[in-house]
Amino acid sequence: MIIAVDGPAASGKGSIARAIAAHFGLPHMDTGLLYRATALNLLETGGDPESEFGAARATDISQIRFDDPELKSETVGGLASRISAYPLVREALLERQKRFAAQDGGAVLDGRDIGTVIAPEADVKIFVTATSEIRAERRFAELKRSGLDVHLPDVLADIRTRDERDSHRAAAPLVMADDAILLDTSEMNLEQAIAAAIEAVEARRTQ
Ligand code: DC
Repeated sequence: MIIAVDGPAASGKGSIARAIAAHFGLPHMDTGLLYRATALNLLETGGDPESEFGAARATDISQIRFDDPELKSETVGGLASRISAYPLVREALLERQKRFAAQDGGAVLDGRDIGTVIAPEADVKIFVTATSEIRAERRFAELKRSGLDVHLPDVLADIRTRDERDSHRAAAPLVMADDAILLDTSEMNLEQAIAAAIEAVEARRTQ
């Protein structure tokens, strides 16, 4: 069973995808990490984010530790969003994601284009969303908890910039697949959102 979980920044799709994977005993891939690792590699090697070729070279991420906390920073997230608009970057990261999705026994992947590009054949597609204000508040609380001195209006502005860029790029933009289930978590806490997602998977599975 392939389960695709897509959605905008800070929608909770990562936590939901991890919980679905644990519940159904499936391997999970956070595909945003591939773009973040590319962005971090570009930063560390002093590459030019304005150059599509330079960014594509940075997709050689064998040296990146996937537990590096820098990967989760807003700087790296913002740069990941910028370079993910380059078709050459997306192409370089495509095969790895497709292979993960197609492994025996199935998988859960979360990102922006899983249900539309990486695994259009997915058995279940969930599109997780929430209003930008709610997502900003959640991200703000998370950043505060990790000890960062952040301001809510800045976090909201960052989220809106990322939404705009991720949704309007020409290559594999963030759009809900026609056959996806919409999960608006604006009025839910994480526990409720996870329960709703698992229920949606069960319902599709038994159809
Ligand atoms: O999900 P995230 O915030 O970790 O993703 C970081 C950026 O990577 C996001 O702003 C856009 C890009 N991305 C993408 O273009 N396609 C994906 N499947 C996952 C992430």
